[in-house]
Amino acid sequence: MSTTLTTRRFLTHAAALAAALVLAACGKQEPPPAPAAPAAAPAAAPAPAPAKVYTVGTDAAYAPFELQNEKGEIVGFSVDLLNAVAAKGGFQVKYVNTPWEGIFNALQQGDRDLLISSITITDERKQTMDFSAPYFDAVQLIAVKDGSKVAKFDDLKTLKVGVQTGTTGDDVVTKLQGKNSTLVKRFESTPLALKELEAGGVDAVVADNGVVINYVANNTAAKFRTVSDSAFAPEQYGIAVKKGNAELLDKINKGLADVRADGTYQQVYAKYFGATK
Ligand code: ARG
Repeated sequence: MSTTLTTRRFLTHAAALAAALVLAACGKQEPPPAPAAPAAAPAAAPAPAPAKVYTVGTDAAYAPFELQNEKGEIVGFSVDLLNAVAAKGGFQVKYVNTPWEGIFNALQQGDRDLLISSITITDERKQTMDFSAPYFDAVQLIAVKDGSKVAKFDDLKTLKVGVQTGTTGDDVVTKLQGKNSTLVKRFESTPLALKELEAGGVDAVVADNGVVINYVANNTAAKFRTVSDSAFAPEQYGIAVKKGNAELLDKINKGLADVRADGTYQQVYAKYFGATK
């Protein structure tokens, strides 16, 4: 190695060190600049920063939106949609099965960067998290046994009703029966509530229409019937991020707008729900 080069390298390092000292003296929080590349290799392109992979929380017991396949992979409408959104929005995602009961807390704590879990956008939830533009329309639907006399939501006032804890289904039934009702039976997942209906432990289940319809169609032996009621307010699903995470929310919303504009949304919708939207 030539003396000139060694000297030059020394000078480069000395300059970097001086810069770091100045920054430190200013009390700045920035880390010191990385040591300058050896002067002998000026043409080397800087390595691209590894793309951040966002951790997605989803309660994967909610077919056909989010579920685990035989291999334990998280799949469904929400996954196909978010994968397409991420590709357009220029970010990467990895899915982590996250029980509904702790899902909002996981976002709040920073254990998850975003949530896609058929989450209804509500004013109450908007206080503690930010939502993307709506991506799916939903409404509550009642499931009962074939022989049941239930014809409308109001008929559930004095019946045992199964719901998933902390969902909008829980909200509407709790409102109908009163906060202290002992007839609301809360389950940690919607399929568990529907199993209990099959077993005869509850008289009805109230949950999101898409999930109830899917369950009834795939469990014909359970002999369920569904009851809709215009008393149920329309709901819309949104992707949730931690309050104030505008950077990620912008990417999500951009991706959502793009997949709607280029027909990908409609394709994914058709894959799971037949008709196009
Ligand atoms: N849409 C309903 C809500 O936001 C139920 C969502 C439940 N989602 C799930 N993956 N378990 O309350």
